[in-house]
Amino acid sequence: MERGKQNIKQVVIVGSGLIGRSWTMAFTSAGYKVKLYDILSQQIQVAMEAVSKQMKDMEEMGVLRGSLSSEEQFSLISGCSDLREAVEGASFIQECVPENVELKKKIFKELDDLVGVDTILSSSTSCILPSKIFTGLKNVKRCIVSHPVNPPYFVPLVELVPHEETDPSTVDITYTLMKEIGQTPVKLNKEIDGFVLNRIQYAIICEAWRLVADGVVSPRDVDLVMSEGLGMRYAFIGPLETMHLNADGMKDYCEKYSESVRRVASSFGPVPEFSGEAADKINEALSKEIPSDPNHLGARREWRDSCILQLARMKKNIKSE
Ligand SMILES: NC(=O)c1ccc[n+]([C@@H]2O[C@H](COP(=O)([O-])OP(=O)(O)OC[C@H]3O[C@@H](n4cnc5c(N)ncnc54)[C@H](O)[C@@H]3O)[C@@H](O)[C@H]2O)c1
Repeated sequence: MERGKQNIKQVVIVGSGLIGRSWTMAFTSAGYKVKLYDILSQQIQVAMEAVSKQMKDMEEMGVLRGSLSSEEQFSLISGCSDLREAVEGASFIQECVPENVELKKKIFKELDDLVGVDTILSSSTSCILPSKIFTGLKNVKRCIVSHPVNPPYFVPLVELVPHEETDPSTVDITYTLMKEIGQTPVKLNKEIDGFVLNRIQYAIICEAWRLVADGVVSPRDVDLVMSEGLGMRYAFIGPLETMHLNADGMKDYCEKYSESVRRVASSFGPVPEFSGEAADKINEALSKEIPSDPNHLGARREWRDSCILQLARMKKNIKSE
């Protein structure tokens, strides 16, 4: 069963921080009405002002998503400091409160008591398993994790992670909705610690760390292996397609390279401690390039986000060619 915009009328964002604001912009870009709720009412005002400014900036840079103007998109947002009022008539609620299991459980219990059976309750959690926050809720069939990647406005991936009691229609509706607002959803068939993105990310972090700790390569050079090497193609194709293209198809790749892959992979060392001498050495190298104070880190983050924005623009152009 699929449900499109005609059925999802009102989206509610619970928590108007970094991720809540990004979701707000993603939903309004596709013409959805958004109610923005936060426990701190002054925070809602701050968030609305920040979103308004960001929409105008995006419009000026020519990267505002959707066909509506920034003004039209902003007019779809309303703030609300009462949760009961906020969720009235909501079809889809995206929770974006801080990453704390007790807080998430409390919020979902409150939402569960307030909504009807048709409302989808979705969490932005980065690493809390659905079973930890949704178990026992009367609307568990309508609960799902929709994990975005920062910054979600430019990095489209959303991992959809169901609870074992989540109804398949909840996954389908959320999937359709995410596609409609311009994100790229992927479905996990069952929950797993770290979901998929962080499991892959942590595998890379661990091997990068071991290679530096073992004196094989410098911190700077291991990062270059990703940004100037693997990352160049991973922005367009994944590891499995890479295998398929790097030989005459997947079967040929397995015949030619599986022995080497298995030999190298079985030489990987244990999970690093991320402390001690190696941590000092890696910290020193990174801090030499980017000192760990808010100004330097902030400037580098801005640079990173502008690169991602340009890459997103380029990928969009390539897709529409
Ligand atoms: N920041 C990231 O890179 C990132 C990426 C993907 C997913 N996430 C996930 O998104 C969620 C939100 O993260 P964030 O970075 O936006 O956090 P944030 O701290 O920027 O924002 C959290 C907001 O929730 C509000 N809040 C706190 N308690 C509340 C309550 N009881 N009811 C309503 N609002 C409440 C706060 O006032 C604040 O405005 C987390 O679960 C996080 O793991 C974050």
